[in-house]
Amino acid sequence: MKSSIRVAVAGVGNTASAFVQGLKYCEMEQNPIGLAFQRIGPYEAKDIKVVAAFDVDSRKVGKDLGEAIFTPPNNAPRVVDVGKLGVVVKAGPLLDGVAEQLRNSFILIVEGSIEDVVRELESTNAHVLVNYLPTGAQRASEAYAEAALRSRVAFVNAMPSVIATSKVWQLRFEEARLPLAGDDVQNQLGATVLHKTLVRLLALRGVRIEGTYQLNVGGTPDFLNLMYRKGQKERTKTEAVKRMAEGEDFDAYISPVAYIGFLGSRKIAHMLIEARGFANVPIRIRVDLEVYDPFNNAGIMIDIVRTVKLAMDREIGGPLISLSAWAFKNPPVHAPPEVAYQWLIEFIEGRRDR
Ligand SMILES: NC(=O)c1ccc[n+]([C@@H]2O[C@H](COP(=O)([O-])OP(=O)(O)OC[C@H]3O[C@@H](n4cnc5c(N)ncnc54)[C@H](O)[C@@H]3O)[C@@H](O)[C@H]2O)c1
Repeated sequence: MKSSIRVAVAGVGNTASAFVQGLKYCEMEQNPIGLAFQRIGPYEAKDIKVVAAFDVDSRKVGKDLGEAIFTPPNNAPRVVDVGKLGVVVKAGPLLDGVAEQLRNSFILIVEGSIEDVVRELESTNAHVLVNYLPTGAQRASEAYAEAALRSRVAFVNAMPSVIATSKVWQLRFEEARLPLAGDDVQNQLGATVLHKTLVRLLALRGVRIEGTYQLNVGGTPDFLNLMYRKGQKERTKTEAVKRMAEGEDFDAYISPVAYIGFLGSRKIAHMLIEARGFANVPIRIRVDLEVYDPFNNAGIMIDIVRTVKLAMDREIGGPLISLSAWAFKNPPVHAPPEVAYQWLIEFIEGRRDR
C-alpha cells in the first residue's frame, strides 16, 4: 500500500543537507538527473518526507531543519532553496558521537537521551531512521538503533559503525520484523565503487594485481573527524576493494589521508593499481576522481529509503542483503556491482526475499 515515506535523520551534517536538498530538487524536477531509479515499487522520490532530525551541536539543535542544514560547520553547497520545513532539530544522546579533540572547540554540545529520540520518532510516526553520525561513533549509533527498535522504525546505517553487519543487531531487527540496511553508504560514483570496478575488471581479465592504494583528501567536517578516527572507514573501504579479487593476495592501502579546508565539500581521490598482465608484463593504472562528496551520497539514499519502505510494506525484518550489497561499502554479503544490481532488481520485483 502506497503512503508517504516518513524519514528521521540522526546527524544534521553535510550528507543530511544534501539529502534534504535532493528531496526538494526531486520535487521541483519532472525528470531528476542522477537517480538510478525513478520509481521503486510504488515509490517516487517525491513521496519521501523528512519528519524528524537529531543532532548534538548547539548551533543546529532547536533550529528548523531547513536552516540547520546550512549552519556551520556544514559546507555542502546550496543547490536549491528548501525554505522552512516545520521540523525542529532535537538533541540526541552524545556518547562517542563527537571526537574528543573536537568537543567544545569545534562543536559545543547539547545532549538529549534515547527516550527523547523514541518520543520524537513515535510522535512523528517515522518509518525509517537514517544514521548519519560521524565515523567512530559506534556507541552513539547503537543508541539510535536501540531507539529505532523501541519505536518500531526501520534503520539505515549510512556510516561505518558495525550495525547491519553485526549478528546481534541483525537478529534483533529480524525478531522485531523491521528492515535493517548498512553499513556505510557506497556513493553514486565514489572512489570505492570505481576502485572496486577496476579491481573486478582486472580479476576477470586474468590480470594479477600486485598492489593498490587509494589516498583521499577533502575539506568537509567528515574529513576533519576522520583525521582523529579513521579506523572503521579504512576497514570498510579496504575490505570492499579486496573482496572484488577473492583468492588473490595483494597489498591494498586505502585511507582518508588529509583534511584540506580550502577544498570545502570536494573530495579528491588518487588511486594507483600495479599489476602484471600476460607473460608477467607490467600494467599500471592511475586515476584521479574529484566529486562533491555529500551530493554523491544523497541520490543513493533516496533509493535506499524507498527500498527499505518497500521491505516494510512486505513485513520483511532483519538485514536487507541485496540492497546492502548494492548501496553500502560493508554489507552483510559482498557482491560485485553488476551482481548486486541484479539482486536489487529481483528484490524490488518481489523475486528475491531480501
Ligand atoms: N559522501 C559522503 O559524504 C559519505 C559517504 C559514505 C558515508 N558517509 C558517512 O556518513 C556520515 C555523515 O557524514 P557527513 O558528511 O554528514 O558528516 P558531518 O560531520 O557533516 O555530520 C555529522 C553530524 O552528526 C552530528 N552528531 C555527532 N554526534 C551526534 C550524536 N550523538 N547524535 C546526533 N548527532 C550527532 C554532528 O554534530 C554533525 O552535525 C559519516 O560517518 C561519513 O563517513 C559519508
